Order: sequence, then C-alpha cells, then structure tokens
Amino acid sequence: MACGLLIPYNGFIGTMEKKRYKVLIVDDEPLVVRLIKEAIEPSGYETASSPDGNTALRLVKEYKPDTILLDGTLPDMSGYDVLRKLKASHETWSIPAIIITALGDRNSKYEALNIGADDFLNKPFDIDELRIRINNSIKVKAYNDLLNDYNNVLEKTVREKTKELNAALQDLQTMNETLKHAYHDTVFRLTRAAEYKDEFTGGHLKRISAYSSLLGEYMGISKSDRGTIVYASPMHDIGKIGIPDHILQKNSPLTAGEFEIIKGHTTIGATILQDAESDVLRMGQQIALTHHERWDGTGYPRGLKGTKVPLIGRIVMLVDQYDALRSKRPYKSPLSHEQVYDIITRGDGRTMPQHFDPGLLEVFKKLSDRFDGIYVSFHDEDTVP
Ligand SMILES: [Fe+2]
Ligand SMILES: [Fe+2]
Repeated sequence: MACGLLIPYNGFIGTMEKKRYKVLIVDDEPLVVRLIKEAIEPSGYETASSPDGNTALRLVKEYKPDTILLDGTLPDMSGYDVLRKLKASHETWSIPAIIITALGDRNSKYEALNIGADDFLNKPFDIDELRIRINNSIKVKAYNDLLNDYNNVLEKTVREKTKELNAALQDLQTMNETLKHAYHDTVFRLTRAAEYKDEFTGGHLKRISAYSSLLGEYMGISKSDRGTIVYASPMHDIGKIGIPDHILQKNSPLTAGEFEIIKGHTTIGATILQDAESDVLRMGQQIALTHHERWDGTGYPRGLKGTKVPLIGRIVMLVDQYDALRSKRPYKSPLSHEQVYDIITRGDGRTMPQHFDPGLLEVFKKLSDRFDGIYVSFHDEDTVP
C-alpha cells in the first residue's frame, strides 16, 4: 500500500494515515510469531509479542495494542482466559481480539464468541487471510477510537458551553438583582411622592412596612409574600394623589361631603395599580382598596366584613391605625404606646376593637412591644416618642 499501512479504504479517517497501528501477538511458538511479524510488519504495522497469558495481560496495558492475536492454547492459561480478562476490564474491553484456533474446532469458536472474541483465525493460517482479518480488526478499532475521540470532544464542548451558560446566568442574576432593587426603589419613591400631598413622611412608610411584615410573619404568611408586603404596604395611600390638596390638608373638621371624597383614595389607589403584572403592585392594589375596611363591616369603600377583607388589608388597617394614633398631626397630638395600645384593644368610641380581626388583635397584643420598638427606630419629624 502506498501509505505503508494496512488501511483498507483510502481516506477512511484523516488521522489514521499518520498513525502506526500496533498488533500484539500472543503465541508460545516463536516460529508462528515470526511468521506473523514478517507478514504484517512490511505493511506498516508495529508489533510486539508475548509467549504466555500473564505477560500478554501486562503488555496490553503498557503497549496499548490496537489489535490482539491470541492463541487458544498458552503455557500458563488458555487464550480464552486471557480473552475473558481483557473483556472484563474497562481499559481493555474495546481492543479487538482475534482468536487463533485449530481448524474445525467449532466448540472453541462458540466459547470464544460467548466471551467476546471479535474474529477467528484457523491454524494453520493463510497469510493473505491473516492480513485481511487484521486489517478489518484495525478498522473496527479505528472506528472505536474515532467514536471515543468524538465523544471526548463532545463532552468537552458540552462542559465548556455549560460553564459559559452558568457564567451568563450568573450575570443575568446579578443584573436581575440590580433591576429588582431599582424597581423596588422606584416603587418606594413614587409612593413617597404621593405621600408628599399628605402630612406623612418617609418614616411612616418604613414603619408601615416593618409592622406589616412583622404581623405577617406571625399570621403565617410565607417568607416570599412577606418580602412582597415590605414593598406593597407603603402603597396603601397612593390614591391620595387624586384627592384635592385643600381637602387633604384641611386643619378643621371635614364635612360629610369632603369625607366622602377622602374615602375615594382607596378606589383611586386601586385604579392606579390595577392590571399590574408584578406581585408587589398587585398586592399594593389589594391593600390600597381594603386598608380602610373593618372586621365588623363598618369600614369603606365597600363595607366588607370579616374574612371578606383580605388578610393583608386587615393587617395594614391595624398597623396604619397604630401609627396614625402615635404620630403628631395638625389636628391631633401624638400618643404614647400605652395610650394607643389601650385605644386599639379597648376602644375610645372612634376606634373600636371590633374593627380589627380578633386573631390579628391577639397577635398585636403579644407583639406590642415590638411595635413600639419599630416606631422608635424609624423616628422622624412626624413621630414624637
Ligand atoms: Fe388610607
Ligand atoms: Fe398611612
């Protein structure tokens, strides 16, 4: 062959033309070994030989042949035992093995096939047949190698791409966090803009957030929903943006008509926030609409009763009352924690315990010290502890 190798097809596999394929001859008859070597070496094969099974098994690992020619009868063990061991090892099972058997020995052939022999040669063998069988066997090995290489390349590519994808996901996550932060910040600032129409300050909004998420925790609301409460609860009065200043900022008592207009901040807020996709805005809408409803049905805008008022609305109603009672207003002095606690739990004629969800009221009683703590920590000009 022109290229000097026993490769059956021209251009079969590009890399094959450069490689010298190795054949391990396992036979205890030196004459047979020599004969085989002389038959195949001129065609470009590299050869090694072993006279027994143990040496062969060691050589297979060191020499890494591409095909093994294995005599059925060896001095220390049978060729079948060698074959069994080769096929049982993950390092060597893929090396094609050609068993050399006595002509017509059908039983030995079946046994060899069962163990995993790839081909047979009958003794005494024909040199041309020997070349063809080795040639075919090498072809199988080359395909196996190519497949292995391809799998390795594929695995490497998949690993690299997975790494790149993870890095990209990481970037996206960082970007998401930044966007999420910017989004929450924007929601908070818009809410504050609305509050500027009123006498409240940023301190009120932060306290509403903190009381609401505290009550939420004790009312069994999930951690992720409590995260939403933190951003949604300050939106309760966002509808005040639609109420005329002269009514909102009036220092004297409101007329019945003016109070009706004030009540409208609930539905205006809900309209501003309606059809939103984000959880924060959707919860914000629910709070805006229901934070003046009362457990006994005397609230507004719809006079909902009991659990018809969503839990988050009941929560914000209670905490908004607590904070308003404690804060200084143009028309009222600030009250101490104890005074407010008394009003909420016993009533003062205007604010009554039956306005609140009884379960929530119990939790408030248990946690009232922490309400005081929140009020004091988010102190600003509208709070006079
Ligand atoms: Fe309100
Ligand atoms: Fe409020």
